[in-house]
Amino acid sequence: MATIESILKETRIFQPAHEFSQQANIPNFQAYQLLCAEAEEDFQRFWAKQANEQIFWHKPFTQILDDHNPPFYKWFSDGKLNVSYNCLDRHLATQADKTAIIFESDAGEVIYSTYRDLHQRVCQFSNALKSNGIKKGDRVVIYMPMRIEAVVAMQACARIGAIHSVVFGGFSSKSLHERIHDAGAVAVITADEQVRGGKHNPLKATVDEAIAMSDVSTVKRVVVYQRTGAAIALNPERDVWWHDIIRNSSKECDPEWVDAEHPLFTLYTSGSTGKPKGVQHSSAGYLLGTKVSMQWIFDYKPADVFWCTADVGWITGHSYVTYGPLAMGATQVIFEGIPTYPTAGRFWEIIQKHHVTTFYTAPTAIRSLIKLGADLPRQYDLSSLRLLGSVGEPINPEAWMWFYEKVGQSRCPIVDTWWQTETGCHMIAPIPGAMALKPGSCTFPLPGIFAAIVDEAGHDVESGKGGFLVIKKPFPSQIRTLWGDPERFKQTYFPEDLNHGKFYLAGDSAYRDKDGYFWIMGRIDDVLNVSGHRLGTMEIESALVAHPLVAEAAVVGKPHEIKGESVIAFVVLKGKYPQKEEVADITQTLREWVAKEIGPIAKPEEIRFGENLPKTRSGKIMRRLLRALAKGEEITQDISTLENPAILEQLKNPS
Ligand code: WT7
Repeated sequence: MATIESILKETRIFQPAHEFSQQANIPNFQAYQLLCAEAEEDFQRFWAKQANEQIFWHKPFTQILDDHNPPFYKWFSDGKLNVSYNCLDRHLATQADKTAIIFESDAGEVIYSTYRDLHQRVCQFSNALKSNGIKKGDRVVIYMPMRIEAVVAMQACARIGAIHSVVFGGFSSKSLHERIHDAGAVAVITADEQVRGGKHNPLKATVDEAIAMSDVSTVKRVVVYQRTGAAIALNPERDVWWHDIIRNSSKECDPEWVDAEHPLFTLYTSGSTGKPKGVQHSSAGYLLGTKVSMQWIFDYKPADVFWCTADVGWITGHSYVTYGPLAMGATQVIFEGIPTYPTAGRFWEIIQKHHVTTFYTAPTAIRSLIKLGADLPRQYDLSSLRLLGSVGEPINPEAWMWFYEKVGQSRCPIVDTWWQTETGCHMIAPIPGAMALKPGSCTFPLPGIFAAIVDEAGHDVESGKGGFLVIKKPFPSQIRTLWGDPERFKQTYFPEDLNHGKFYLAGDSAYRDKDGYFWIMGRIDDVLNVSGHRLGTMEIESALVAHPLVAEAAVVGKPHEIKGESVIAFVVLKGKYPQKEEVADITQTLREWVAKEIGPIAKPEEIRFGENLPKTRSGKIMRRLLRALAKGEEITQDISTLENPAILEQLKNPS
């Protein structure tokens, strides 16, 4: 690790504007340092104070951190609360008529929902779930389009103490099956179809396929929201329409008070090996993380119109659509469609139309918008914006500059937020009124987050040197376990050989510059970042090998202009090396196969065939070499340990 040097030499720096700092929740660097010092002195007391201020407790906690059984930490564990109560009921007395959600459909239809309305919808749906036999602790898979109903479904689960597990609508029936099975879900909430960019995607049919696969007899109910009215098959024993089950249910529903540590949800994410990991979050600690980050990083103000473009299928859509903004009582935009439909100006049009103040999106979206219309933002009135945010992968400084100048008109700070499905909320991100920004750096850890960069032995590395990004102390919003696999949880995130399992290992490498700014360098494991989403190379390899034509496969990432990374597969077929005229057909077949097995996002951009893969004498695939080949680089590495050097020629060129 010590040899990893940064190649980025970014020297631009942007001081916070006086007007922004003046109104900011944390108005200067000293105020930030003060909070950090408070946490430094006694991190448990620091978080306890936040938890008392931010959360409505049905029963206050007396215990702060229970660390008797590391790394299975518990926070505020004798307290009781309800997350949905904190997001909805709490606002009824003060701002029932405030708009909670401004929904815009793919085709441009707008629906407003106030806090009163949203509360009623959630209560009504909660009662409907209960009368369909769903109860506290049950797992419910949500496979929905990006609409108000997706938020209602999640909030209703939280209200009755059921544990939701949202699966992104772009995942295949196979991936959906795997997640339903792993969770042991008793119900699936879905829609007839999803509409994005004018295209219809059959969700219910995919659910049927997923349940028809083996071993998911746990599913007793499928609730179907009617989005398009497309013809679908209904199983009378199992399937019910959303509109039917809410018809006679009451719009009042007492919340189920749960323990602070009651699981709020699980969300599956890719790891470097094996099946996806069901990241399990708590109720209180998670809620607290989303709330403090709304205030510190998004500098939340009651007059804001907040827009996070992420789908609820990802953690960003959990923390900064369903939970954080509602817990703050914010007005937010929810958009069903895609950035480029019907034109590449869609995002700018939405910002203009709804007077968005805070706009949070991903570098991959920014890059595609630059490509399709770098000058387009100029044609819209974006003067309502006051803060921009980025998440999902390192933002390259040029994309940062474009976002800053063309979208934010050099007026709005950009918060480049580093965090993960596992951390629940922002970990390292600028406090916009307090910190000078450097394009491409996520700046400093949040108060109470003890992030550091260490070597293999767990010692801090000096500035400028790369190392493992770790978090040294427990924090309330962190992952509690992997659903059904505590051993994997421990090994993945708290490996024994790193300071005796005391540090949370993020799986990213990073370095700090001379001013102490954090710069994320990328993943240390075999995980690709495609369009801001994590894909395990192993998962794609297993999918490929499951095809009858394939004997062996290795998948690597290659830098991609828009997606960040694209998937390149090296494949050995059973039987012989393909004839030139067969290559296009087989490639097509395998790409579609992966889309079907995992989802279109995992489709290899390119497949190269070989009679073999480059391996060491001990039989390990040399991924470094494959990565170099994928990029078209000359092989400069030492290949003396390579079993079969001749293979490199064959794999060098795209077939
Ligand atoms: C991984 C987490 C957190 C929500 C979206 C993705 C990368 C995320 C940044 C950033 C550099 C970033 C990391 C991280 N990542 N944000 N601002 N700068 N890298 O969640 O799927 O759990 O992926 O995304 O590699 O480990 P996720």
